Amino acid sequence: MKEKLLEIKEQAIGELESIQDISGLEKFRVTYLGKKGLITSMMKRLGELPPEDRPEIGKLANQIKTDLSGLFEDAHGRIEAKGTEEEFYLDITLPGREPARGHLHPISRVNREICNIFMKMGFRVVKGPNVELDYYNFEALNFPKDHPARDMQDTFYISKKVVLRTHTSNMQIRVMESQSPPVSVIAPGKVYRSDSADASHAPMFHQVEGFLVDKNVTFADLKGTLTSFVHQMFDRDTALRFRPSFFPFTEPSAEVDIQCVICRGEGCRTCSQTGWLEILGAGMIDPEVYRFVDYDPETISGFAFGMGVERIAMLKYGIDDLQLFFKNDMRFLRQF
Ligand code: PHE
Repeated sequence: MKEKLLEIKEQAIGELESIQDISGLEKFRVTYLGKKGLITSMMKRLGELPPEDRPEIGKLANQIKTDLSGLFEDAHGRIEAKGTEEEFYLDITLPGREPARGHLHPISRVNREICNIFMKMGFRVVKGPNVELDYYNFEALNFPKDHPARDMQDTFYISKKVVLRTHTSNMQIRVMESQSPPVSVIAPGKVYRSDSADASHAPMFHQVEGFLVDKNVTFADLKGTLTSFVHQMFDRDTALRFRPSFFPFTEPSAEVDIQCVICRGEGCRTCSQTGWLEILGAGMIDPEVYRFVDYDPETISGFAFGMGVERIAMLKYGIDDLQLFFKNDMRFLRQF
Protein backbone atom coordinates (compact mmCIF):
# COMPACT_ATOMS: atom_id res chain seq x y z
CA MET A 1 0.00 0.00 0.00
CA LYS A 2 2.93 2.27 0.69
CA GLU A 3 4.19 1.72 -2.87
CA LYS A 4 0.72 2.35 -4.24
CA LEU A 5 0.49 5.66 -2.37
CA LEU A 6 3.91 6.84 -3.58
CA GLU A 7 2.96 5.84 -7.11
CA ILE A 8 -0.22 7.93 -6.90
CA LYS A 9 1.85 10.85 -5.65
CA GLU A 10 4.33 10.58 -8.56
CA GLN A 11 1.52 10.34 -11.07
CA ALA A 12 -0.37 13.32 -9.58
CA ILE A 13 2.71 15.57 -9.62
CA GLY A 14 3.41 14.67 -13.24
CA GLU A 15 -0.15 15.36 -14.29
CA LEU A 16 -0.33 18.63 -12.44
CA GLU A 17 2.61 20.04 -14.35
CA SER A 18 0.91 19.55 -17.71
CA ILE A 19 -2.43 21.09 -16.71
CA GLN A 20 -3.06 24.40 -18.57
CA ASP A 21 -6.58 25.47 -17.64
CA ILE A 22 -9.11 25.65 -14.83
CA SER A 23 -11.25 22.77 -16.12
CA GLY A 24 -8.17 20.48 -16.18
CA LEU A 25 -7.43 21.49 -12.59
CA GLU A 26 -10.94 20.66 -11.50
CA LYS A 27 -10.64 17.20 -13.04
CA PHE A 28 -7.37 16.75 -11.14
CA ARG A 29 -8.96 17.78 -7.87
CA VAL A 30 -11.81 15.30 -8.28
CA THR A 31 -9.47 12.48 -9.31
CA TYR A 32 -6.95 12.85 -6.48
CA LEU A 33 -8.22 15.03 -3.70
CA GLY A 34 -12.02 14.68 -3.88
CA LYS A 35 -14.25 12.69 -1.52
CA LYS A 36 -14.20 9.82 -3.99
CA GLY A 37 -10.65 10.54 -5.11
CA LEU A 38 -7.72 8.14 -5.10
CA ILE A 39 -6.17 9.34 -1.83
CA THR A 40 -9.43 9.18 0.08
CA SER A 41 -10.20 5.71 -1.17
CA MET A 42 -6.73 4.56 -0.11
CA MET A 43 -7.34 5.96 3.37
CA LYS A 44 -10.60 4.05 3.57
CA ARG A 45 -8.68 0.89 2.96
CA LEU A 46 -6.35 1.40 5.96
CA GLY A 47 -8.49 -1.13 7.89
CA GLU A 48 -7.26 -3.91 5.61
CA LEU A 49 -3.70 -3.46 6.95
CA PRO A 50 -2.28 -5.14 10.01
CA PRO A 51 -2.86 -2.83 13.00
CA GLU A 52 0.86 -2.15 13.55
CA ASP A 53 1.26 -0.79 10.00
CA ARG A 54 -1.75 1.52 10.10
CA PRO A 55 -0.19 4.59 11.84
CA GLU A 56 2.72 4.78 9.45
CA ILE A 57 0.67 4.38 6.28
CA GLY A 58 -2.06 6.67 7.62
CA LYS A 59 0.51 9.37 8.31
CA LEU A 60 2.00 8.95 4.84
CA ALA A 61 -1.42 9.19 3.16
CA ASN A 62 -2.17 12.39 5.11
CA GLN A 63 1.19 13.86 4.22
CA ILE A 64 0.68 13.11 0.53
CA LYS A 65 -2.77 14.68 0.61
CA THR A 66 -1.38 17.84 2.21
CA ASP A 67 1.49 18.04 -0.26
CA LEU A 68 -0.77 17.56 -3.27
CA SER A 69 -3.23 20.15 -1.94
CA GLY A 70 -0.38 22.66 -1.67
CA LEU A 71 0.81 21.91 -5.20
CA PHE A 72 -2.76 22.12 -6.42
CA GLU A 73 -3.14 25.64 -4.93
CA ASP A 74 0.11 26.74 -6.56
CA ALA A 75 -1.00 25.44 -9.95
CA HIS A 76 -4.35 27.20 -9.48
CA GLY A 77 -2.58 30.49 -8.84
CA ARG A 78 -0.34 30.02 -11.85
CA ILE A 79 -3.20 29.28 -14.23
CA GLU A 80 -5.40 32.10 -12.93
CA ALA A 81 -2.62 34.66 -13.33
CA LYS A 82 -2.06 33.50 -16.89
CA GLY A 83 -5.78 33.94 -17.66
CA THR A 84 -5.77 37.49 -16.34
CA GLU A 85 -2.73 38.29 -18.38
CA GLU A 86 -4.42 37.11 -21.56
CA GLU A 87 -7.76 38.81 -20.97
CA PHE A 88 -6.53 42.15 -19.68
CA TYR A 89 -3.20 42.40 -21.34
CA LEU A 90 -2.08 45.95 -20.71
CA ASP A 91 -0.51 47.60 -23.73
CA ILE A 92 0.79 50.90 -22.48
CA THR A 93 1.61 51.99 -26.03
CA LEU A 94 -2.10 52.10 -27.00
CA PRO A 95 -3.53 55.64 -27.19
CA GLY A 96 -5.67 56.52 -24.15
CA ARG A 97 -9.41 56.94 -24.27
CA GLU A 98 -10.09 60.68 -24.43
CA PRO A 99 -12.95 61.99 -22.29
CA ALA A 100 -15.72 63.55 -24.39
CA ARG A 101 -15.15 67.27 -24.69
CA GLY A 102 -17.96 69.81 -24.91
CA HIS A 103 -17.79 73.06 -26.82
CA LEU A 104 -19.48 76.43 -26.98
CA HIS A 105 -22.96 76.78 -28.44
CA PRO A 106 -22.75 78.62 -31.79
CA ILE A 107 -24.65 81.58 -30.29
CA SER A 108 -22.16 81.85 -27.41
CA ARG A 109 -19.35 81.66 -29.91
CA VAL A 110 -20.68 84.39 -32.18
CA ASN A 111 -21.57 86.48 -29.14
CA ARG A 112 -17.97 86.27 -27.91
CA GLU A 113 -16.66 87.04 -31.35
CA ILE A 114 -18.79 90.18 -31.60
CA CYS A 115 -17.75 91.32 -28.12
CA ASN A 116 -14.07 90.64 -28.82
CA ILE A 117 -14.10 92.84 -31.91
CA PHE A 118 -15.54 95.77 -29.97
CA MET A 119 -13.32 95.14 -26.94
CA LYS A 120 -10.31 95.51 -29.21
CA MET A 121 -11.71 98.92 -30.21
CA GLY A 122 -11.83 99.91 -26.53
CA PHE A 123 -15.44 99.16 -25.63
CA ARG A 124 -16.10 97.78 -22.13
CA VAL A 125 -18.54 94.88 -21.62
CA VAL A 126 -21.42 95.36 -19.18
CA LYS A 127 -24.39 93.18 -18.30
CA GLY A 128 -27.79 94.09 -16.92
CA PRO A 129 -31.11 92.66 -15.81
CA ASN A 130 -33.46 90.73 -18.10
CA VAL A 131 -36.41 91.59 -15.89
CA GLU A 132 -36.53 95.34 -16.25
CA LEU A 133 -38.51 98.38 -15.22
CA ASP A 134 -40.65 99.96 -17.91
CA TYR A 135 -38.65 103.10 -17.12
CA TYR A 136 -35.33 101.67 -18.44
CA ASN A 137 -36.80 99.62 -21.26
CA PHE A 138 -39.11 102.36 -22.62
CA GLU A 139 -39.67 105.58 -20.76
CA ALA A 140 -36.12 106.93 -20.41
CA LEU A 141 -35.47 105.83 -24.00
CA ASN A 142 -38.06 108.37 -25.09
CA PHE A 143 -40.82 105.91 -25.99
CA PRO A 144 -44.09 107.83 -25.84
CA LYS A 145 -46.73 106.31 -23.54
CA ASP A 146 -48.81 105.05 -26.49
CA HIS A 147 -45.88 103.76 -28.60
CA PRO A 148 -46.79 100.49 -30.37
CA ALA A 149 -43.63 98.77 -29.06
CA ARG A 150 -45.14 98.93 -25.57
CA ASP A 151 -48.11 96.99 -26.81
CA MET A 152 -49.02 93.81 -24.94
CA GLN A 153 -48.59 91.97 -28.23
CA ASP A 154 -44.84 92.58 -28.33
CA THR A 155 -43.87 92.93 -24.69
CA PHE A 156 -43.99 90.33 -21.93
CA TYR A 157 -45.34 92.19 -18.92
CA ILE A 158 -44.51 90.98 -15.41
CA SER A 159 -46.62 93.75 -13.92
CA LYS A 160 -47.75 97.19 -15.00
CA LYS A 161 -44.28 98.64 -14.46
CA VAL A 162 -42.06 95.58 -14.95
CA VAL A 163 -41.29 93.87 -18.27
CA LEU A 164 -38.93 91.30 -19.76
CA ARG A 165 -36.62 93.62 -21.63
CA THR A 166 -37.48 93.81 -25.32
CA HIS A 167 -33.99 95.03 -26.28
CA THR A 168 -30.59 95.64 -24.72
CA SER A 169 -31.00 99.42 -25.08
CA ASN A 170 -32.03 99.51 -21.39
CA MET A 171 -28.29 99.39 -20.72
CA GLN A 172 -27.78 102.80 -22.34
CA ILE A 173 -29.78 104.38 -19.53
CA ARG A 174 -28.38 102.18 -16.74
CA VAL A 175 -24.78 102.94 -17.70
CA MET A 176 -25.19 106.64 -18.44
CA GLU A 177 -27.14 107.37 -15.25
CA SER A 178 -24.29 105.93 -13.17
CA GLN A 179 -21.30 107.20 -15.12
CA SER A 180 -20.40 110.51 -16.73
CA PRO A 181 -18.95 110.79 -20.24
CA PRO A 182 -16.83 109.64 -21.93
CA VAL A 183 -18.40 106.17 -22.07
CA SER A 184 -17.94 103.38 -24.59
CA VAL A 185 -19.76 100.21 -23.68
CA ILE A 186 -21.14 97.05 -25.22
CA ALA A 187 -23.93 95.12 -23.53
CA PRO A 188 -24.64 91.56 -24.69
CA GLY A 189 -27.65 89.64 -23.42
CA LYS A 190 -31.01 87.99 -23.83
CA VAL A 191 -34.09 89.89 -24.95
CA TYR A 192 -37.74 88.82 -25.08
CA ARG A 193 -40.62 89.52 -27.43
CA SER A 194 -44.04 87.99 -27.54
CA ASP A 195 -43.57 86.55 -31.03
CA SER A 196 -44.61 83.07 -32.07
CA ALA A 197 -41.65 80.97 -33.09
CA ASP A 198 -40.86 80.49 -36.78
CA ALA A 199 -37.78 80.39 -39.02
CA SER A 200 -36.95 84.03 -38.20
CA HIS A 201 -38.72 84.70 -34.86
CA ALA A 202 -38.27 83.42 -31.33
CA PRO A 203 -39.73 84.65 -28.01
CA MET A 204 -36.17 84.93 -26.67
CA PHE A 205 -33.07 85.85 -28.61
CA HIS A 206 -29.75 87.61 -28.07
CA GLN A 207 -28.61 91.14 -28.81
CA VAL A 208 -25.43 93.09 -28.45
CA GLU A 209 -25.92 96.77 -27.71
CA GLY A 210 -23.11 99.26 -28.20
CA PHE A 211 -22.85 102.97 -27.50
CA LEU A 212 -20.26 105.66 -27.18
CA VAL A 213 -20.65 109.19 -25.77
CA ASP A 214 -17.94 111.84 -25.73
CA LYS A 215 -17.17 115.31 -27.02
CA ASN A 216 -17.51 115.75 -30.80
CA VAL A 217 -18.81 112.27 -31.64
CA THR A 218 -20.32 112.26 -35.12
CA PHE A 219 -22.23 109.98 -37.45
CA ALA A 220 -18.90 109.39 -39.22
CA ASP A 221 -17.58 107.76 -36.03
CA LEU A 222 -20.61 105.46 -36.03
CA LYS A 223 -20.03 104.57 -39.66
CA GLY A 224 -16.32 103.93 -39.12
CA THR A 225 -16.94 101.77 -36.05
CA LEU A 226 -19.60 99.62 -37.73
CA THR A 227 -17.64 99.30 -40.97
CA SER A 228 -14.62 98.05 -39.06
CA PHE A 229 -16.86 95.61 -37.17
CA VAL A 230 -18.43 94.20 -40.35
CA HIS A 231 -15.06 93.81 -42.04
CA GLN A 232 -13.74 91.82 -39.07
CA MET A 233 -16.90 89.77 -38.57
CA PHE A 234 -17.47 88.89 -42.22
CA ASP A 235 -15.08 89.84 -44.95
CA ARG A 236 -12.67 92.69 -45.61
CA ASP A 237 -14.60 93.73 -48.71
CA THR A 238 -18.19 93.37 -47.49
CA ALA A 239 -20.05 96.56 -48.45
CA LEU A 240 -22.32 98.38 -45.94
CA ARG A 241 -25.41 100.50 -46.57
CA PHE A 242 -27.00 102.92 -44.10
CA ARG A 243 -30.77 103.35 -44.65
CA PRO A 244 -32.71 106.12 -42.89
CA SER A 245 -34.95 104.67 -40.18
CA PHE A 246 -36.61 105.60 -36.89
CA PHE A 247 -36.05 104.75 -33.24
CA PRO A 248 -37.44 106.93 -30.41
CA PHE A 249 -34.01 107.11 -28.73
CA THR A 250 -31.81 107.95 -31.74
CA GLU A 251 -31.86 110.89 -34.15
CA PRO A 252 -30.97 110.51 -36.93
CA SER A 253 -31.57 106.74 -37.01
CA ALA A 254 -30.43 104.17 -39.51
CA GLU A 255 -30.80 100.53 -40.35
CA VAL A 256 -27.57 99.02 -41.55
CA ASP A 257 -27.44 96.47 -44.35
CA ILE A 258 -24.48 94.44 -45.53
CA GLN A 259 -23.98 93.11 -49.00
CA CYS A 260 -25.53 89.63 -49.13
CA VAL A 261 -22.92 87.16 -47.89
CA ILE A 262 -24.53 84.34 -49.87
CA CYS A 263 -24.76 85.84 -53.38
CA ARG A 264 -22.33 88.75 -52.93
CA GLY A 265 -25.02 91.21 -54.03
CA GLU A 266 -26.26 89.37 -57.09
CA GLY A 267 -29.69 88.66 -55.60
CA CYS A 268 -30.79 85.32 -54.09
CA ARG A 269 -33.41 83.73 -51.82
CA THR A 270 -31.64 84.75 -48.59
CA CYS A 271 -31.64 88.46 -49.50
CA SER A 272 -35.03 88.29 -51.29
CA GLN A 273 -33.30 89.26 -54.54
CA THR A 274 -32.24 92.65 -53.11
CA GLY A 275 -28.53 91.86 -52.72
CA TRP A 276 -28.64 93.34 -49.17
CA LEU A 277 -29.18 91.96 -45.67
CA GLU A 278 -30.26 94.04 -42.68
CA ILE A 279 -28.04 93.37 -39.68
CA LEU A 280 -28.60 96.12 -37.13
CA GLY A 281 -30.27 99.32 -35.98
CA ALA A 282 -28.25 102.39 -35.06
CA GLY A 283 -28.21 106.15 -34.77
CA MET A 284 -27.01 109.22 -32.88
CA ILE A 285 -28.38 109.17 -29.32
CA ASP A 286 -31.39 111.53 -29.18
CA PRO A 287 -30.80 114.63 -26.98
CA GLU A 288 -34.12 113.78 -25.27
CA VAL A 289 -32.45 110.68 -23.79
CA TYR A 290 -29.68 112.76 -22.19
CA ARG A 291 -32.32 114.61 -20.13
CA PHE A 292 -33.05 111.36 -18.25
CA VAL A 293 -29.40 110.74 -17.34
CA ASP A 294 -28.29 114.30 -16.66
CA TYR A 295 -25.90 114.60 -19.57
CA ASP A 296 -25.54 117.98 -21.26
CA PRO A 297 -26.48 117.63 -24.95
CA GLU A 298 -24.78 120.98 -25.64
CA THR A 299 -21.32 119.64 -24.82
CA ILE A 300 -21.48 115.92 -25.69
CA SER A 301 -22.85 113.65 -28.38
CA GLY A 302 -22.88 109.93 -28.97
CA PHE A 303 -23.95 107.01 -31.11
CA ALA A 304 -25.66 103.70 -30.35
CA PHE A 305 -26.32 100.47 -32.19
CA GLY A 306 -27.98 97.16 -31.48
CA MET A 307 -27.70 93.88 -33.34
CA GLY A 308 -29.23 90.41 -33.14
CA VAL A 309 -26.69 87.67 -32.41
CA GLU A 310 -28.79 84.88 -33.99
CA ARG A 311 -29.15 86.94 -37.15
CA ILE A 312 -25.38 87.46 -37.42
CA ALA A 313 -24.76 83.76 -36.73
CA MET A 314 -27.26 82.71 -39.41
CA LEU A 315 -25.56 84.89 -41.99
CA LYS A 316 -22.08 83.88 -40.97
CA TYR A 317 -22.79 80.13 -41.11
CA GLY A 318 -25.48 80.13 -43.82
CA ILE A 319 -28.26 78.82 -41.52
CA ASP A 320 -31.81 79.37 -42.74
CA ASP A 321 -33.82 78.39 -39.66
CA LEU A 322 -33.52 80.28 -36.36
CA GLN A 323 -35.15 77.40 -34.46
CA LEU A 324 -32.07 75.20 -35.00
CA PHE A 325 -30.27 77.24 -32.34
CA PHE A 326 -32.85 76.37 -29.68
CA LYS A 327 -33.54 72.69 -30.40
CA ASN A 328 -30.28 71.37 -28.92
CA ASP A 329 -29.98 68.73 -31.62
CA MET A 330 -26.41 67.49 -31.23
CA ARG A 331 -26.16 66.65 -34.94
CA PHE A 332 -26.56 70.39 -35.63
CA LEU A 333 -24.49 71.69 -32.71
CA ARG A 334 -21.51 69.37 -33.34
CA GLN A 335 -20.84 71.15 -36.61
CA PHE A 336 -19.50 74.25 -34.85
N1 PHE B 1 -32.94 98.50 -29.67
C1 PHE B 1 -33.19 98.51 -31.10
C2 PHE B 1 -33.95 97.23 -31.47
O1 PHE B 1 -33.99 96.32 -30.69
C3 PHE B 1 -31.91 98.55 -31.89
C4 PHE B 1 -31.14 99.83 -31.71
C5 PHE B 1 -30.18 99.92 -30.73
C6 PHE B 1 -31.39 100.92 -32.53
C7 PHE B 1 -29.45 101.11 -30.58
C8 PHE B 1 -30.68 102.10 -32.39
C9 PHE B 1 -29.71 102.17 -31.41
O2 PHE B 1 -34.53 97.15 -32.52
